[in-house]
Amino acid sequence: MIEPEKLLEFIKNRRSIRSFQDAPIAEDALTMILEAARWTPSASNRQPWKFIVIKDKNLLEEIASKAIYGKFVKRAPLAIAIIGKKKISPNWYVVDTSLVSMNMMLMAWSLGIGTCWVGAMDREKAKKILKLNEDDYLLTILPFGYIKGAIPKPTSRKSIEEIKREL
Ligand SMILES: Cc1cc2nc3c(=O)[nH]c(=O)nc-3n(C[C@H](O)[C@H](O)[C@H](O)COP(=O)(O)O)c2cc1C
Repeated sequence: MIEPEKLLEFIKNRRSIRSFQDAPIAEDALTMILEAARWTPSASNRQPWKFIVIKDKNLLEEIASKAIYGKFVKRAPLAIAIIGKKKISPNWYVVDTSLVSMNMMLMAWSLGIGTCWVGAMDREKAKKILKLNEDDYLLTILPFGYIKGAIPKPTSRKSIEEIKREL
């Protein structure tokens, strides 16, 4: 087991990273990120997901052009598209793949690799670029890269008092 204080520190220190070094992601680091994804819990253990690892620069640029607040994707050496398989788990594919994204982000952070969730994206156009099926759900495309420059300052969070209610 990991020490709780260390885990909390780790969770608190993770930041969204939008600036990447021009260096490829090591293959064993990619494997670790995919392993973390694979071990994500899912409803009835259906694992309704597929991952597309994108290294092609032209593809990354094309995808970035469809991301409203994700132009930084084109500067990443690698991105992973997280696909939810609707047919495999019609009620839970969004939840399950969202959990995957968090596991990937945390594993990346432990490896000194930055990433940032890209939500604002023309999913239909991005789906076409990736040649996805009609019933595939494109959750997000996470860019991954070794962090360039300083780690951004901590973002604010609501206090426990603001978000907690006791009964
Ligand atoms: C569902 C979701 C969608 C997001 N979409 C974007 C996005 O389109 N572009 C972006 O730059 N950041 C995006 N973010 C990153 C958030 O802005 C970021 O997580 C938040 O400001 C807290 O900062 P932190 O991750 O550094 O703690 C998104 C995050 C989540 C969870």
